[in-house]
Amino acid sequence: MNTKNYRLIAVDGLAASGKGTLARRIAEYYHFAYLDTGLLYRAVGYEVLSVNGDISNPKHGLIAAEKLNPKNLNNPELRSEAASEAASVVATSPEVRMALLNFQKSFAYNPPDGKMGAVLDGRDIGTVICPDADRKLFVRADISIRASRRYKELRSLGLNAIYARVLQDLRDRDCRDVSRNMAPLVPAKDAFVLDTTFLDPEGAFRAALGYALF
Ligand code: CDP
Repeated sequence: MNTKNYRLIAVDGLAASGKGTLARRIAEYYHFAYLDTGLLYRAVGYEVLSVNGDISNPKHGLIAAEKLNPKNLNNPELRSEAASEAASVVATSPEVRMALLNFQKSFAYNPPDGKMGAVLDGRDIGTVICPDADRKLFVRADISIRASRRYKELRSLGLNAIYARVLQDLRDRDCRDVSRNMAPLVPAKDAFVLDTTFLDPEGAFRAALGYALF
C-alpha cells in the first residue's frame, strides 16, 4: 500500500486479454485518471515507421520516445496491426523504456485533474512502474479467444484484418513481451490473476471489483 491519500491500481496482462476495457471501467467506476501505457509504445513505434526509421534500432526508438507528445495519442492509426507490431519491437529496447518511465510514474503519482487515484494498464505497471500500487491485476486469456477479440476490434475500427495474421501477431508479441530482458511480462508476486477466457467485459469487471474494492 502506498502512504499517499490517493489510490493506484495496476492492470497488466497479455495483448487483447481485455485489460484495457477492464482498466477503463475501473477508472470510470472510481473516477480515477486512466492511462493506457501501450499507447505510448504504439506512438513511439508509429513515429519510427512514419519517418521510415528502423523499429529494431534502439537509437531510432529513443529519438521517437523523446519527441513523444501525449496530445497525439488519439490517432486511430495507433490501433493498426503495423503500430501494434512496431510497439512490441520498440518496447524491447531498454532506452525506449527508460525514456517513457518518468511520464508514466508522474501520471501515476500525480494524477491529472485533481483525481484521487489512477489506473494504469500495461505490461510492467505492477512490477516496474508502480511496484507499490494498492491493487494489482494481471489479466490473461486463451490465445484464440484473444485473437478473435482483437480481430473484431480491428474490424469495428474499419481497419483491415485477417484472423490468421492477427493470431500470429499475438503469438509473436506474447513471445517478445515475456522474453525481453528489461521488464519482461510477468505477474507481480502480489497480483490477482484474472483469466477472462470465459468472461465477457461485464463478468471481468465484476470479478475485478470483487478483488479491487476499496
Ligand atoms: O492492446 P494490446 O494489449 O494489444 O497492446 P498495448 O497494450 O497497446 O501494447 C502494445 C505493445 O507495447 C505491447 O505488445 C507491448 O510489447 C508493449 N508494451 C510494453 O512493453 N509495456 C507496457 N507497459 C505497455 C505496452
